[in-house]
Formats: sequence, structure tokens, C-alpha cells
Amino acid sequence: MKTAFLSPSVAVAVFAAAVFAVTAVSQAPQSQPSGPPGGPMPHEMQMPAPTNLQVLPKDLTGEQVHRIMHSWASALGTHCDTCHAPDPNAPVGPGGHPRLDYALDTKPEKNTARLMVKMVEDINGNYIGKIDNAGIKVSCGTCHRGHLSPPIFIPPPEHHMGPPPQGAPPAAPATGL
Ligand code: HEC
Ligand code: HEC
Repeated sequence: MKTAFLSPSVAVAVFAAAVFAVTAVSQAPQSQPSGPPGGPMPHEMQMPAPTNLQVLPKDLTGEQVHRIMHSWASALGTHCDTCHAPDPNAPVGPGGHPRLDYALDTKPEKNTARLMVKMVEDINGNYIGKIDNAGIKVSCGTCHRGHLSPPIFIPPPEHHMGPPPQGAPPAAPATGL
């Protein structure tokens, strides 16, 4: 049986990162989420349980999915409609904004995001998790840094070592890395 691609520990890590991101962004004065301890968040009833999870654990609550979604949107510097298509049956929601059908899979960005989730799980489980490290995991923000297309890294000029000695081979082999 193939359920979710994420192992429970990775799911917890993804979820913890999501909680951290949401907390850091929106709850500066408070250190704890405001729901009763161990109980549902106040607006949990308004968030229906997900019906079309293919890479996230299928037993996440609506509230948990929303926290992860907010962390993805901030990591990519985008909004929900980057990945989610309007509901064709109810195109206009409150305030004249299109109402999104989150379970629809019509936008290619949504499936790209699913691939990205599997990639991040692979990177952390099979590479970063196998080195002696400080517990830092790769997340969407590690690469995207608030942009839909990860910005190209240009090293600051003061870190350049100057021109190579005469006759020296090019600094890096042409591996594409
Ligand atoms: C980078 C793309 C991306 C962004 C941005 C994004 N989502 Fe998602 N969303 C997804 C993917 C991918 C899934 C399906 C995950 C899976 O298959 O396990 C999903 C699933 C969901 C679901 C569950 C739907 C169901 O019934 O299965 C909800 C609800 C949801 N998103 C809400 C939001 C909200 C609200 C926002 C904005 C705050 C948002 N999403 C932003 C990619 C995104
Ligand atoms: C190892 C670096 C890395 C990580 C980690 C990463 N991405 Fe990406 N992502 C990329 C690159 C590179 C592209 C291609 C961008 C381009 O061609 O403009 C991309 C593209 C995307 C796109 C398509 C953008 C578009 O313009 O259509 C989405 C959506 C996306 N990533 C979502 C995510 C999400 C969600 C996560 C976390 C679950 C994530 N990414 C983690 C490197 C990364």
C-alpha cells in the first residue's frame, strides 16, 4: 500500500518548520500558538480535512495543512493561487476574489511542489541526515529564499581570490555544479 511519501519523522520536521515559520512571522509577542493545550485551534472547524494529499501524510488535519501551506507560500514569496486553481463552480468568493478549489490538480505548479516535497525528503533523509551536522535541514526556503524562482547566488566580490596564476586550469571543472 502506498500512502504518503513522507516518513512520520520527516512529516513532523516539515510541520515543525511550518509552525516555526508561521509563529515567527505572525506571532512576534507570543511564543505559543493560542489554542487550548493539546486541543484544536480556535478556527479548526472552518478548515475541512484534506481529501487529495499525495505526498503529505494523509492524516493531517485541515489546520495542519494550512500551516504548512502558509510556510510554503512565505518561503516562495507567493500566494495560494500560485499553485491552486479557482473553483470552476464558485469562481467568485467574498470580496470578489476567486474562490480556490484546493483539491484540484490543474495548476502545474501544484505538481511541481509535490515533486519538490519528495526532493526535500530525499535530500534530508539520504544526504543531509547522513552527515554529522548541527541539525539543520533543507527546507523550501533554503533554496527559494522568498522567490518562486530561486535567486542565482553571486559571491560577493571581496571573496574572490583574484585571477588564477598564468597557465592554471579553470578553477572549477565543468560539471554543472
Ligand atoms: C508552492 C505551491 C503551493 C502553494 C503556494 C500553496 N499550496 Fe496548498 N497545496 C499544494 C500542494 C502540492 C498540495 C497537495 C499536497 C499533497 O499532495 O500531499 C496542496 C494542498 C492543499 C490543501 C489540501 C487540499 C485537499 O483537499 O487535499 C489545502 C486546503 C491547501 N493546499 C491550501 C492552501 C492555502 C490556503 C494556501 C495559501 C496560504 C496554499 N495552499 C498555498 C501546493 C501549494
Ligand atoms: C535544492 C533547492 C530547492 C529546494 C529545497 C526547493 N526548491 Fe523548488 N525549485 C528549485 C529550483 C532550482 C526550481 C526551478 C526554478 C526555475 O527554473 O525558475 C524550483 C522550482 C519550484 C517551483 C516551480 C516554480 C515555477 O516558476 O513554476 C515550485 C512551485 C517550487 N519549486 C516549490 C518548492 C517547494 C514547495 C519546496 C519545499 C517543499 C521547494 N520548492 C524546495 C529549487 C529548490
